[in-house]
Amino acid sequence: MTIRTRLTERLRIRHPVLSAPMAWAAGGRLAAAVSNAGGLGLIGGGYGDRDWLTREWAQAGNAVIGCGFITWSLDRKPELLQVALANAPRAVMLSFGDPRPYAEAIRSASAALICQVQTVRQAREALEAGADILVAQGSEAGGHSGTRATLPLVPEIVDLCAAEAPETLVLAAGGIADGRGLAASLMLGADGVLVGSRFWAAEEALVHPNALSRAVQASGDETLRSSVVDVVRGVDWPPPYAIRTLRNGFTERWHGQEEALAREGDAVRQAYADAAARGDMDTAAAIVGEAVGLIREIRPAAAILEAMVADAETWLVGGAGLVRPG
Ligand SMILES: Cc1cc2nc3c(=O)[nH]c(=O)nc-3n(C[C@H](O)[C@H](O)[C@H](O)COP(=O)(O)O)c2cc1C
Repeated sequence: MTIRTRLTERLRIRHPVLSAPMAWAAGGRLAAAVSNAGGLGLIGGGYGDRDWLTREWAQAGNAVIGCGFITWSLDRKPELLQVALANAPRAVMLSFGDPRPYAEAIRSASAALICQVQTVRQAREALEAGADILVAQGSEAGGHSGTRATLPLVPEIVDLCAAEAPETLVLAAGGIADGRGLAASLMLGADGVLVGSRFWAAEEALVHPNALSRAVQASGDETLRSSVVDVVRGVDWPPPYAIRTLRNGFTERWHGQEEALAREGDAVRQAYADAAARGDMDTAAAIVGEAVGLIREIRPAAAILEAMVADAETWLVGGAGLVRPG
């Protein structure tokens, strides 16, 4: 049995699951593994490093994959979109900014335009830009997000599309890490899901082993959505976005003290970068979402995807055993 949705039809994939374009973590090997297992893998174009992007596309081999960019960062290096489009992506995802300047180029390259949105207002803007697929992202997500929660945001955007743009598909993102999350998202009316944190903890992801060791021990209680990590990395994220990570000594020390942290200057910034490189997770915070509490082992991406889909099928066919005749 397989789960067929408008997403599997539209993107010509077997399973209604996309892996998120996670900056630095989602390279070509992860994207290819997800695509080869029947989903669609997206390379994390992130903040836009041409050499990294070129190298990671090569790592994907012949797999059909896609790519995602942080839109406000792409605005500073718009030529990087051509690097992605030259590789015939099946889809390009834009998040955190105005997609309109790029929509035409993406669609004329026969790639699906996916816009990740955090509010209903952004969903409307993405529809105006001609998005083929909206990703409704809740603040449970790993990495950057807005402030709304996945559970009510997804059906609100599903309703919006049903009323105003019935051809546009909707994916759920934020907190989905297993078959229950996939099944629940389909129940909310989504056509599929975009999964970040669970694939961040795949064997193929580009993540420091010390970060993974922390993640498999952690509960979802232990994450924090904050600007600390952006301030110390010197990344100028526009409000209202903040980044969800595991809490550690560094985030506990500086959360709420971001202005003072900014005044600390280069020494603390360099120390943080060094800590990230050597895997000192008391300083460098692992970038992962609330779904971390559902991640107990590091597995190949294909195994993660297959288990997620098989479990979702069980829930969708058998139900939760809650409704009994009579
Ligand atoms: C390590 C990490 C890096 C991320 N980087 C990006 C990014 O560069 N661009 C982007 O659009 N989303 C990024 N995200 C967010 C994902 O696109 C997605 O919304 C999120 O992972 C979904 O929630 P989940 O982590 O609970 O699955 C990142 C997420 C993680 C965990």
